[in-house]
This record gives sequence, C-alpha cells and structure tokens, in this order.
Amino acid sequence: MLENNWWHEAIIYQIYPRSFFDTTNNGIGDLKGIIQKLDYIESLGVNTLWINPITASAQVDNGYDSSNYTKIDPLFGTEEVVDLFFSETKKRGLKVIYDFPLNHTSDQHMWFKEALKGPDNPYRDYYVWADGPDEGLYPNNWTAAFGGSAWTKEMNGDQYYLHIFKKEMPELNWDHEPLRKDMAKVLNYLIDKGIDGIRLDAFIFIDVDKRFPDKDPDMETQDLIEYGENLKKYVKELKASVRARSKDIFVIGEATSADAQRIDEYTQEELLDGVITLSHFTDNDDLKIDELPEMNQHVPLDFDKFKRTQKAIQEHLADRPGPILFWNNHDRPRSPQKYGDMDNYRDETAKMMATLLYLQKGIPIIYYGEEVGMNNSGFEDPSNISDNGALSFYESASELGWSHDKIMKNLNLTVRDASRGIMQWSNTKWSGFTEDAAPWIISHQEATYNVEDQEKDENSILNYYRKLIELKKQPLFTRGGWKLLDTEKKIYAYKRNYEGTQANVFCNFSDEERVIENIVNASDDQLVLSTHDAELKDQKMVLPAYSAFVFVSE
Ligand code: GLC
Repeated sequence: MLENNWWHEAIIYQIYPRSFFDTTNNGIGDLKGIIQKLDYIESLGVNTLWINPITASAQVDNGYDSSNYTKIDPLFGTEEVVDLFFSETKKRGLKVIYDFPLNHTSDQHMWFKEALKGPDNPYRDYYVWADGPDEGLYPNNWTAAFGGSAWTKEMNGDQYYLHIFKKEMPELNWDHEPLRKDMAKVLNYLIDKGIDGIRLDAFIFIDVDKRFPDKDPDMETQDLIEYGENLKKYVKELKASVRARSKDIFVIGEATSADAQRIDEYTQEELLDGVITLSHFTDNDDLKIDELPEMNQHVPLDFDKFKRTQKAIQEHLADRPGPILFWNNHDRPRSPQKYGDMDNYRDETAKMMATLLYLQKGIPIIYYGEEVGMNNSGFEDPSNISDNGALSFYESASELGWSHDKIMKNLNLTVRDASRGIMQWSNTKWSGFTEDAAPWIISHQEATYNVEDQEKDENSILNYYRKLIELKKQPLFTRGGWKLLDTEKKIYAYKRNYEGTQANVFCNFSDEERVIENIVNASDDQLVLSTHDAELKDQKMVLPAYSAFVFVSE
C-alpha cells in the first residue's frame, strides 16, 4: 500500500445535499448552498467532502437511482455551479468525494429504457434478466432490500428484471463487458471534472449468483447476492482504470456487512483504499423479540462486542491508512441519540463518542450536523416516514399492545429518514436552512444545538470538534500504532504511539462515574483535550459520566 497518499490524512465531512443549505427557497438543499457554506466547512478543519449523489435521478431513492451519471440533477444546480463548486473547493485545498451508485441505475436511465425495447436491443444485457417461472409468481424467492420480491416483470415482454433495492432501481449486469467499459468512462469523466475520490455504493452486490437458486427459508437473500465470484475481478478492473487516469483518486467501497476479515481482504492497493462497513454497530440483537420485524426494533449497543469489533478492525488494518471511522451516515439514525444519553448528557455524549472513535487509527467521516450535536428528526407519525416497513411495523407493534410513544421511539431510532433532517444553522425559522418554504423532510428546530449559538460558546460541541480535528491531524493520531487497554466494561481506553510520543485516550461510555487506576502518570502526561477537568489522585483518575480525556506524553 502506498504510504503517502493524500487520504492518509483525510478527515471527511459528509454532506447530504438535500438537507444542508437551500439557496433557492424550495425547501431542498442545493449545490450553491454547499458552496456558500465552504467557509464554515473549512473552519472545522476538515480537508475532504463526501457528498451524497447530486447527479440526475428520478429521486425515488434520493439520487441513488441515477438516470445520468454525468449530469447534475436540476434539483441541485446547473453544470456551471458544478464547475464553480470544483474551482472553489480546489482553491481551498478541499478534496471532493463523489458517490457512485454503480450497482443499479434508475428505471429512467437511457440504458434501461433501451433495454426494455426487447431482447435484441444492444442495452438488454446491461441489466439482469430471468425468464418467467413455470409455476409461481417470480423467477425465484429472492426478496428486495426495501421489501417485496427482487423481481419485476417487464411491461411489454415476458422476462423479469432483478432489483435488489427498489423496483425502480434495476440491477446492472457487470458480467457484460460493454457495461463495464461504460462505467469506466463515467469515472474518467468525473475524474476529469475534478473529483478526488469515489465511493462505490453497494458494490458488493454487482455479481449475484446467476443460476438464481432459491434461498432456503433460514437463509438471507444477501447470502446469494453478496461477494460473488467475479466481484474482485470487476473491482480490480475498475480500480486499474481509475489509476490509469489518475494516481491520486481515493477509492472507497461501501460493504455494509463486511467484518474485519473482509475489510482487510478488500483494502488492497489493487482493490479498494477503504471500506465502509456497518458491522461495528454491534446492536444487542438478542434483546429483539421474534414477533416483530427485526429492522425497526431499537436495542442498545453490545459494548463488549463493539470493543472486540473495533479491535479486530484496527489490528487487521494496522499497516494501512484505513479503517473508515464513523458514527453517523444517511442510512441510519444518528448514533449519539441511539447509543448515548442525549437527554441528560448531550454535550458530553457527543464529545465523548467523537473522541473515542476518531482518535483511533483511520479516516474519520463526520456527518453534517453531528459537530453541533444534532439529534434525529423525531417523527410523530409513521406516515411521515418514507422508509419501507415503518407503517407495517407500527401496525404490528400496535397489535402487540405497544403504545404510540414506544413505537415512535423505536422507529425514530431505526429508520434512515431520522438522520436526514435539515442542518441546524441557527435558532431561527427552519433553523436557517431555508427562508420560508417548508423543508422537504420533517425536521425539528433545536435551540442552542445550532451553529450560530455554538460559535459563541468556547465550550460548545462545535468548538470541541474543532480541537479534536486539529489533534487528529498529528502523525501520532493518523500514523501512530494503536492498542486497546484492558479496562472494565463501559470504559473504552487506548494508547497511540508514534516515534517516541504516546497518547492515552480514556472514554466513559456510561452514565456512572468510573475510576481507573495505574494508567496515567500525572506528572509526565499532558492533558490535551477533555470533556471535563481532570481529577487525578495517586495514579487514580476519575471519569465522570460520558467523559473523555486525551493525554499525550513525549
Ligand atoms: C447504499 C446507500 C443507500 C442507498 C442504497 C442503494 O446503501 O448508502 O442510501 O439507498 O445503497 O443505492
């Protein structure tokens, strides 16, 4: 692995463009809005932006259903604005990562419209087709991630096309070479346009089992569609083509289910430079009940398992820039509210969780708004939630006798819409996100948990994040070794070391005070960042509820 790639020092800020800043007053954020906020983004100290898809889309899945990979969606701006965006970000030394939904297109993409014209059309094989069944409704029993069968019958023919996500998002057929060549061309276009990195969305599904076997009842469809036998070949080919165009493009892949072993396997120079997994969100699934769908039951984090998972990921990638470190993204509710205590210890929870994760080895991704301690949207009615399954969960849980409040709490902590609320810029109408058009998504305005108010407070979450990001830039935290310390359950503590410098990071992930002994040497260790004043007595250190302390010694 190359040692001096720019992403070794990357600190990424993820923006969900719809919810960031609206300059056209239509209730939907836009690219000009991002440009207008670049000073703010720069002031955080981050050096890289990842923006969720802004290219043309039917917007059935907010941009992940692409209808043209090389044109901006008019919802977000014009080609001139795209050019301005790249020139402004480059001027500031900010790198830009684009999202690339390469597993499927929209059914409105020209390729799919052509493919629907019939089996002889040159674009037919850009997609995955199966003949109708002799018996039964569908070619097999695979289910789609967003509900229902993974197959839909074409309108004017007898075949079925595969869609792992929504029916408006047909799967692309990566076995077909012309498709792979076209996808490489798309990336070349984007590289020439100015991107510095690319996120391969849902890439693990691009090579499904084309024999289309039925799954056993106790099997997940996932088992037959993930990590197909040619997956590595196609990723390698794409990476080689990217590298041939530019040596400097950071290629990350989203592999939601990847464990440490898989991340290791795919984080290789000829494959990916980083893997985004959800496997470190180790929810305590044992606490879920069988009578209700698993997906919308909120359960706490299994903290022991979290530690073990982090340790495995950190150790597997010890010689590479990347584990990708994140608590939040657009596909899951914001973690501080899910796992910490944002009712009683909001500032502490937000600061502690960021410290715990981001000072480890790896590349942080900060999701817009977490730097001011933004909470989840807090829907009051399931009909306002676009996630599939929310309504039926509501019905089933009601039948079981769950109260409205209990059901909504579970939904708000499990549906992905919850994390997509509008950015909290100020304590004014619509939080300063838009002027007077209602935002596209129900969002709560939150006094003081906004940028304007926190700018004025030296001890705010926002200003803590700035200090944390500054610290993260030191080689000790980007390149240093990492070791988890053996501490009691709810304490997460680790050492970093780099060329004779050492850091100790202590975090208390509980609402009770804890004391640790014989770890810190008060006279030599300098406290460089903390959520509270340090109380050190005779080698004993007091960790208040949800506290974090970072010591460095030369
Ligand atoms: C990824 C995206 C998610 C999207 C899905 C289908 O998981 O992060 O938002 O819905 O892929 O493209």
